[in-house]
Amino acid sequence: MLKHIGIFDSGIGGLWLLLELQKKMPSCEFSYFADSGYAPWGALSKARVLERSEAITDFLIVKGCESIVVACNTATSLCIEHLRSKYSQRFFGIEPAIKPAGLVTKTGSIGLLATYGTLSSERVHVLISKYSEGAVVECLNFPGVVELIEGGKSISREDISSTIDDILDQFKKKNIDTIILGCTHYRYFYEEIMQKAGNEFYVLEPVCDVVKHIAKKLSYFDIENVGMPTSDSTRIYTSSIDTTAINKSLELMFANTCAQVEYVANV
Ligand code: DGL
Repeated sequence: MLKHIGIFDSGIGGLWLLLELQKKMPSCEFSYFADSGYAPWGALSKARVLERSEAITDFLIVKGCESIVVACNTATSLCIEHLRSKYSQRFFGIEPAIKPAGLVTKTGSIGLLATYGTLSSERVHVLISKYSEGAVVECLNFPGVVELIEGGKSISREDISSTIDDILDQFKKKNIDTIILGCTHYRYFYEEIMQKAGNEFYVLEPVCDVVKHIAKKLSYFDIENVGMPTSDSTRIYTSSIDTTAINKSLELMFANTCAQVEYVANV
C-alpha cells in the first residue's frame, strides 16, 4: 500500500520539502497544505500557531495521511512536541541546523536566520545550548521575505537584496563564518545568498538532510517503485483564495507532478 504523507507550512516555503520528498519517495502519496491565508506565522503567538497547526493536522488526517511533515521551522519549534503528544500519527519537523553548524564553524561564530517565533522558542534555545559545540549563535530575522514570497509585495526583490547585504555585513563584523537558513521561505533566496556569501560563509540549508532522515525513518527503500511522481499522487490545498503565488511556485518548481491547487475555506 502507498504511504500517504501530509505536509504543511504557513504557506509555500514548505514546497521545497515536498519537491525533495517527491524525488526521494516517488511512489508515496502526498497532501500539502499551504496556510497562505494566515501567513506569516513568524510573528503569531504560540497559541495561534498551535491552533492553526492542529486545524491543518485534523484536515490532513481526514484526507488519510499517516505521517505528517511540519515543513515549517516556526511550527516545529513552537508546537511539534504538543502535536506528537496529541495525535497518534507520526510527526517529522524541520528546525535550525545548529548541530551541523557547530561542527563546521572555524571561527566559533554562527549566524542563525529565522522568524521571531522560531528564535523566541524554548526548543531552539535548548538546541543552541546543547548542540552548538560552544559556538556563539547570533540570531537575526530576515524581514520581508515571507510577505514577498506569499505575494503580499510589501517589499521588493531589490529591498530583499540589500537586506541580504546588510545581514552579511553584520555577520562579517561578528566574525561569523557559518549561516543557518532557519525558515523554509528563505530557501527562495538561497542562490542569491550563496552568491553574495561567496567563500566567506558556509551556508546551511537543511531541506535535503531532513528529507533523507524522513525516508530512512519511514523505511522507504522502495527500489522497485522508483520512477516519476505523478499529479495523481500529490494534492495541494491552500487557505488563501488568491492562488497566484502558489501557482507560480508550482509552475516553476514542479513539472506537472502536482494536482491543481484546491482552495479550502473552512480549515
Ligand atoms: N516557513 C516558516 C518557517 O519555516 C514560517 C514563515 C512565516 O510564515 O513567518 O519558519
